[in-house]
Amino acid sequence: MKKTMITGVQPTGNFTLGNYIGAIKNFVNLQKSHDSFIFIADLHGLTTYQEPAKINKTILDLAAIYLACGVDPKETNFFVQSKVDEHCVLGFLIAFQCRVGELSRMTQYKAKKEKSGGSVDLGLLIYPTLMAADILLYDAEVVPVGSDQRQHIEITRDLGERVNKKYGGMFKLPDYYISKYGHRIMNLQNPLEKMNKSAPADDKGTIFVLDDVKITRKKIKAAVTDNDNKIKYDEKNKPGISNLIIILAILRDVTISDIEKEFENSNYGEFKEVVANEVERFLLDFQAKYQKIRESDELIKILQAGEKEARKRAQAKLETVKTKMGIMI
Ligand code: TYM
Repeated sequence: MKKTMITGVQPTGNFTLGNYIGAIKNFVNLQKSHDSFIFIADLHGLTTYQEPAKINKTILDLAAIYLACGVDPKETNFFVQSKVDEHCVLGFLIAFQCRVGELSRMTQYKAKKEKSGGSVDLGLLIYPTLMAADILLYDAEVVPVGSDQRQHIEITRDLGERVNKKYGGMFKLPDYYISKYGHRIMNLQNPLEKMNKSAPADDKGTIFVLDDVKITRKKIKAAVTDNDNKIKYDEKNKPGISNLIIILAILRDVTISDIEKEFENSNYGEFKEVVANEVERFLLDFQAKYQKIRESDELIKILQAGEKEARKRAQAKLETVKTKMGIMI
């Protein structure tokens, strides 16, 4: 029997090459061999203010991005999180199983709290309990994500295990699927910081997948490197060049050492030119697919079909949970 796989992306900010490489590419590669679910995490997006009039458009834009990245609705149940209310109900029940201390120790929560000067909305604190519900609701065992989400998958396992012990086994426990390379694509201008989709639209270190390719070329050419002029992977001492090596290796589906060998005698200028060409090739192909899908009426139909299947599965699971917890159904 196929294992169930799930992942999600928040419809906030602008989708980056990091989101593609860190999570969606792996999902796409595995979708056929798994019982696959992918969703737009719009409820998670609401943990920070989103302009209501823009939300629908943003969700459809992201849906078209997923499909253009290769999410295949014939293989994958593809839906919008808020359309399946069971996520909220299970999120609430899971929150009861969680200690405040566990949530307030989460790295992302602490970082966001610090950034906001100490005062944060409850939504940011309980964000991981909703994420745990997203995963446990489908008995997902495989969750492709970037390494910034590792802790959230770990707490999902802990919470699932806790509920299983307390009320009798009801959830399968998930594992994150984090690739060895590409799990944390870095900002081209500051290779010690991750590429972030909340970066301003004109950020020179972030490759947004809907960027004009001329701008992307400039960003890659201007990427911060070092003075060594050797194309060698060394994350610690050469974070900028290592980041470019990873991007090229993953887009070409080759290994890091393949890239090192190929560019043994090249300088940084020549190497950046090749990376820029490869990213441009990827983006042009991606953007052509995106435009076509975004304009077609299939998009809504695909999401509705995915939602139907997801709801069926989620309803059945929630009934089991309620029965085990003694909640009348
Ligand atoms: P989000 O929307 O921040 O990011 C989507 C996915 O992209 C990965 N990612 C990266 N990978 C490599 N390099 C980067 N620079 C980079 N930036 C982001 C993220 O790790 C993520 O996999 N909480 C999640 C959404 C979510 C979810 C879920 C995911 C909600 N429920 C259930 C999996 C399962 C989030 O905010 O991802």
